[in-house]
Amino acid sequence: MTEPIFDVVVVGSANLDLVANLDHLPTPGETLIALGYAEYPGGKGVNQAVACARMGAKTAFVGCVGNDDAGTLLRSVLEGEGIDTSHLRTVSVPTGRAFINVDSHGENEIVVVAGANAQVGVEDNFVIPNSRVVLAQLEVPLHTIEVAFMQAQSNGSITVLNPAPARDIPESLLSLANIVVPNETESAAIGGTKQLLQSGVVTVVTTLGADGASIDTATSTTHIAPYKVTPVDTVGAGDAFIGATCAELSRGSSIEDAARMGAIAGALATTVKGAVPSLPTRQAVLAAQKS
Ligand code: RIB
Repeated sequence: MTEPIFDVVVVGSANLDLVANLDHLPTPGETLIALGYAEYPGGKGVNQAVACARMGAKTAFVGCVGNDDAGTLLRSVLEGEGIDTSHLRTVSVPTGRAFINVDSHGENEIVVVAGANAQVGVEDNFVIPNSRVVLAQLEVPLHTIEVAFMQAQSNGSITVLNPAPARDIPESLLSLANIVVPNETESAAIGGTKQLLQSGVVTVVTTLGADGASIDTATSTTHIAPYKVTPVDTVGAGDAFIGATCAELSRGSSIEDAARMGAIAGALATTVKGAVPSLPTRQAVLAAQKS
């Protein structure tokens, strides 16, 4: 087996996030006037890659952007974080977009337009670089994740799947994931912890928002305590948790210790507006852990 080049490879989406701040989230048929508006770099893939890099992991991003301003911005954000972009392709489809509403309690709802993300991994010679951890979400084609995880397993990498947004996941993909990290909604949508463990997943880490997280294996359940904060914007909190957890796993931490760092990173991310701007550094997470 060859020595991994990267700590974490993220196979995922890159979006421009169009964020409206509202008093409350709209009900069907309701039109609201936004209290504020901003655009941020985002996409679960980009957010998680940046989260890994800020936690000190040598990170590569595998994805696609369009030949447009949003694509240029996202590429430069990744490069600015020291993330390897040699597997970031520019394609002739517009960069993905996410339409995000955030209410006065920091809760959100998100609609994603895949755009260039639907092209990730469709090329004939799709190969991911060798790394300790390979992390993917569900905003890129499922077949791509399956191929990436097969390569990861033959490289001896740990495979981590964040099943977000929730979609039907084929058994063939689930059986290639060592660790699955859903939130409670996603867990329910894909059949729950028990079913995931029966599909061959070794560890399920369920994020519980303000209640921390739960780590389940076939023989144990461990609760990860929350880090208490006052949230202003929960967009990207799950990405911060997962990125930090994967970065710590790549350092050789146990899943419990990694998820404890993840829980702090996720909480800190809710205290700042926007996804990428809110992702904490390892120094900030360690300082919060001591406080
Ligand atoms: O997890 C938050 C992310 O989900 C946003 O940045 C948005 O782009 C969507 O992918």
